[in-house]
Amino acid sequence: MRTTIACILGLAAFSPADVLAQKPRLDPAHVMGAQSCTECHGKEVDAWRATTHFKTFKDLERRPEANKIADNLDLDDLSANSLCIECHFTVQKKGARHVAISGISCESCHGAARDWIKEHNKETVARAARKSVSEKAGMLYPQNIYAVASNCFDCHVVDREELVNKGGHSAFSKDFDLLAWSQGEVRHSFMDSGSPVKKSGTVNREADANRKRILYMVGKLLNLEYELRAVAKATTAKGTAAAKQAYGVQHAIRANALIKEVEALNQLVPTNEVTALIAAAKSAALKTKNEAQLNAAADKVSIQAKKFVEAHDGSQLGGLDVKISALKPRGTAFTP
Ligand code: HEC
Ligand code: HEC
Ligand code: HEC
Ligand code: HEC
Repeated sequence: MRTTIACILGLAAFSPADVLAQKPRLDPAHVMGAQSCTECHGKEVDAWRATTHFKTFKDLERRPEANKIADNLDLDDLSANSLCIECHFTVQKKGARHVAISGISCESCHGAARDWIKEHNKETVARAARKSVSEKAGMLYPQNIYAVASNCFDCHVVDREELVNKGGHSAFSKDFDLLAWSQGEVRHSFMDSGSPVKKSGTVNREADANRKRILYMVGKLLNLEYELRAVAKATTAKGTAAAKQAYGVQHAIRANALIKEVEALNQLVPTNEVTALIAAAKSAALKTKNEAQLNAAADKVSIQAKKFVEAHDGSQLGGLDVKISALKPRGTAFTP
């Protein structure tokens, strides 16, 4: 039965060995684990423990949908399979073994911490200097929102054709919005502005108005970049019953919708960067087997998105507030 589906669609048979060869998102040898943050970021850790990101570690295997996906792909043990682990868990090297230690954790978004955990908080070093050292060691600071938020789209835009077409996994989180999805259950903004180092306080602050505008716009630009890259990986327009609609078709529709959405936002708050970004996004046809063109377009989109972050602090983007006020935070923000 499985062979037949693969033959009809002309898909290469899905082999778990290929999957194990995939490069992990984080270097397991550099992963410290969330408990190593607790001493100084206790509130952030408490907030994280209430999230879907934390709970997926225990929940995933209990879900009938997970076993269906695993069956469709001929996978025996999904908690040990690197394809699922990559987006659902955090992996650490313990001795000679790689062990899944938790769900999606601090380091999934801020970078594997081994080489910066003792540097980013050094009171004896000026902030700019300790920040620079930590960034070189792989730390992703919240201020660098393009880098931190790229992680969201690495996982929330599912760029694996077989996983969707054969496994029946969703192709992306349907209504993902960086602002709404970071200000609900994911929110963990407890830092005060203390000196010489900040401290974790007790209030889980909402982002201020300017920050919200930046998060909102950058979320749309990154989402478009990642959708172009996902379409670039599409090799067939045919799906299976499990996928309902083929991977490539779903992503092309989503990319097209995002282009329209970004165009509408650029009418509200026109900027040179987003105008150039739209032209870049439209320069590649949204079709299968168009990898080089689509990736080149995505690279240009990325350059303009980074320029946008550098050029704007949100104060001139008040035109976005009509959109922002209509958003609902995803999940409930944690209160200590
Ligand atoms: C020994 C205490 C300590 C530990 C352990 C620690 N941190 Fe920190 N962290 C701090 C301090 C202090 C600051 C504020 C630094 C500053 O003001 O520049 C900070 C700042 C941060 C920031 C940046 C906040 C900002 O807006 O500048 C992030 C992100 C962060 N830590 C993540 C982590 C993660 C993830 C871990 C665990 C892997 C961790 N930290 C472990 C003390 C610690
Ligand atoms: C590229 C990242 C990625 C990979 C790889 C991945 N997932 Fe997911 N998975 C996600 C995201 C993101 C969601 C949340 C989807 C949403 O918001 O609709 C999710 C959701 C799920 C759900 C919940 C779906 C539902 O209907 O509620 C299941 C079950 C699941 N994944 C199983 C798996 C299994 C099994 C594997 C490995 C064969 C796997 N995933 C691999 C990113 C991934
Ligand atoms: C390492 C992969 C990964 C990263 C990075 C990641 N997510 Fe997720 N996220 C997931 C998966 C997988 C799920 C679904 C888990 C499940 O249902 O078991 C999820 C679920 C969520 C949920 C709950 C979904 C719901 O349906 O209510 C929110 C909110 C969320 N993510 C927001 C974010 C934001 C915002 C970022 C970036 C700042 C982010 N995620 C980064 C993989 C990731
Ligand atoms: C899903 C991705 C994600 C995960 C998981 C995550 N963070 Fe963050 N973190 C972010 C984002 C995005 C911001 C910026 C939020 C904003 O600007 O509103 C941030 C901000 C921060 C800040 C600065 C908050 C402030 O008040 O200025 C600290 C400190 C921090 N994270 C530490 C942690 C620790 C410790 C963990 C684990 C317990 C963790 N993060 C887990 C994405 C994540």
